[in-house]
Amino acid sequence: MKFFIKTFGCQMNQYDSEILAALLTQKGYEEANNENEADVIILNSCAVRQKAEDKMYSLLGRLKSMKKQNPNLLLGVGGCVPQQPGVAQEIRKRIPEVDFVFGTHNVCNVPELIAQAQRQEKPIVEVVDEPLKKAELVFPRRAAGVNAFVTISSGCNNYCSYCIVPYTRGPEISRSPEAIVKEVQEAVQEGFREITLLGQNVNSYGKDLGVSIRFPDLLEKINAIDGVSRIRFVTSHPKDFDRRLILAIRDLSKVCEHVHLPVQSGSNRILAQMNRRYSREQYMELVEEIRQENPEVSITTDLIVGFPGESDQDFADTMDLVEKLHFDQAFTFVYSPRPGTAAYGLKNEVPSTMKKERIQQLIRVQNRLTLMANQKLVGKCLEVLVEGPSKTDPAQLSGRTRTNKVVVFNQKPGIHTGELVEVCITGAGMWNLFGRL
Ligand code: SAH
Ligand code: SF4
Ligand code: F3S
Repeated sequence: MKFFIKTFGCQMNQYDSEILAALLTQKGYEEANNENEADVIILNSCAVRQKAEDKMYSLLGRLKSMKKQNPNLLLGVGGCVPQQPGVAQEIRKRIPEVDFVFGTHNVCNVPELIAQAQRQEKPIVEVVDEPLKKAELVFPRRAAGVNAFVTISSGCNNYCSYCIVPYTRGPEISRSPEAIVKEVQEAVQEGFREITLLGQNVNSYGKDLGVSIRFPDLLEKINAIDGVSRIRFVTSHPKDFDRRLILAIRDLSKVCEHVHLPVQSGSNRILAQMNRRYSREQYMELVEEIRQENPEVSITTDLIVGFPGESDQDFADTMDLVEKLHFDQAFTFVYSPRPGTAAYGLKNEVPSTMKKERIQQLIRVQNRLTLMANQKLVGKCLEVLVEGPSKTDPAQLSGRTRTNKVVVFNQKPGIHTGELVEVCITGAGMWNLFGRL
């Protein structure tokens, strides 16, 4: 039996898919190279915006017809979409070709669900409210590379008013530091050199554990593990980003100088309605302080345009903040109403043409700033972790700077994937830096 997993959404979902792949491999399944080779296809879905859900449903439409040709093919849908209340049943009704449906909390039961589906019982729907222990049971099956994701906490307690994640992932639960350290050690043994710690809000790590360990303490523990070259972490919530973390980035040699710090909006009025619990001024001060202690740091962000009631002035505040802070990169999203969230059904929806205009304006400005930030690095020599041949030009190598920028540079005999090298930057585009060893 061969399985194929298609993952939508964030790194958290990717990590869950890696756990699922490990469980299935343990049961004797083989990983297929593509959908056509597979006996079981599993879609691990994302519900963060309507577009993400639509993508999953459109793939499902295609797979339905594959199933007509191969009735033995099993189709499963899991992850954040079916974890929403009532949605799992709806999927089963709307698309009877789906053999099994599961949520984010019961990934570890999927081998059993597949076995049940094979026995040709009726379609199986199993979504549970509480997370079942999953990560401690198995070591994730990761694709080859230099970077390994390691989940440090699941769920989220923040309830930003637009966001579905607290509903699809449940409350925040920190993993024990022992389990995390063990997983990092195993990843290093498998050859991974860069560890990316994952949580919806890594800065609040440990607050639920009942022992006195905080995120900077965890960074210290991982910094001390032999074989780890670099440590990254996502995502940071500005309200919990404290001075200790700023200093940890400065002082711990393996912790990279890159902070992904979603601001969402530059307007205090909108920030309050989003329930973000910081002001524009507090955010700007935080960025200032991070940069003061870490002059090389790159700061990236997420921005939402078109939140209900966003006025021209609110949007101008966002543009102003972006112009002032010079982010290295920004991920921009049009607000998408999510059923069940506090903002769902809010009046004063922004018309969709206006949303589009605003996001285009924002992207235009940020692209210019991203290019400027990259151009500033021309002439500098930077530490790069070699990731392998460049995708655009396989005759060259590619890797990342500590600040998470992709660099394309020349090959030299004896240089291996996973090695740290020094590259002098000779050119810069929007997406890449170019350099020479
Ligand atoms: N926990 C992280 C990431 C959450 S989802 C954080 O707090 O930042 C990633 C991004 O998707 C968010 O930062 C936000 O910018 C965007 N997003 C979340 N819900 C959205 C919605 N309903 N509409 C548009 N963008 C949304
Ligand atoms: Fe969603 Fe906010 Fe939690 Fe991030 S912090 S996952 S945006 S609720
Ligand atoms: Fe999407 Fe779920 Fe992640 S909604 S962004 S896959 S937590």
